[in-house]
Amino acid sequence: MRKKIVAGNWKMNMTFDEGQKLTSEIVNMFKDEAVKDVTLVLNPPFPHIHPVKKLIGDTPGIGLGAQNCSDKESGAFTGEVSAKILASFGVQYVILGHSERREYFKESNELLAVKVKQALANGLTPIFCCGESLEIRTAGTHEPNVKFQLTQSLFDLSPEDFSKVVIAYEPIWAIGTGKTASADQAQEMHLALRRHISSKYGKEIAENTSILYGGSANPGNAKELFSKPDVDGGLIGGASLKSRDFIDIAKSF
Ligand code: PGA
Repeated sequence: MRKKIVAGNWKMNMTFDEGQKLTSEIVNMFKDEAVKDVTLVLNPPFPHIHPVKKLIGDTPGIGLGAQNCSDKESGAFTGEVSAKILASFGVQYVILGHSERREYFKESNELLAVKVKQALANGLTPIFCCGESLEIRTAGTHEPNVKFQLTQSLFDLSPEDFSKVVIAYEPIWAIGTGKTASADQAQEMHLALRRHISSKYGKEIAENTSILYGGSANPGNAKELFSKPDVDGGLIGGASLKSRDFIDIAKSF
């Protein structure tokens, strides 16, 4: 059975104190309300990694992720953080290919393929983001466009490595806009991606791949999104900065 995951992407938000408060609240609510059958993943900015890890401790069901890693192994790359460094701090996941990184930092499918390999080589689970712009959606070419992102960045992986990857489908027009994809639109795309994975890696691996939806998910729409057979959770931006909302999303399966 594939894993249900609700991952919070804090983006470039939260001071030290705010991050500590948010994490403590999330950990406490998760335990007190006995949230079950879902893995939470907190993805704070880099400086929070160590203190957030301390607060999570060994709480079962809560993981720690980063929002990016370098494509390089180590060395003179000022300002970069390698997958190896992240792993040594107890990080388990890394978001790669978020549309903001693709757009503002010009990350290409080819570069992301290298980052994915770095992550896997260091034991991190990539949360690989894909998704189309409004322009592409309007033109009706979203399906081939998003499949191509997977093909270029992931389909060089061995079946063993591919089966460690989590996918996040995030239509760009729905990110931070309050304009979520409908549950049917999400399901249609998730199914198309699962079939695409199946055509390369076979049915079993495709069936076991967690595909998360991202883009203005909130406690009000999560239940409907998560009720779809191919939606295995969410990558949550804005609503992951509020403990109550984040936990309520996690309880929406
Ligand atoms: P949002 O962001 O939930 O604020 O739309 C999602 C994301 O960018 O991962």
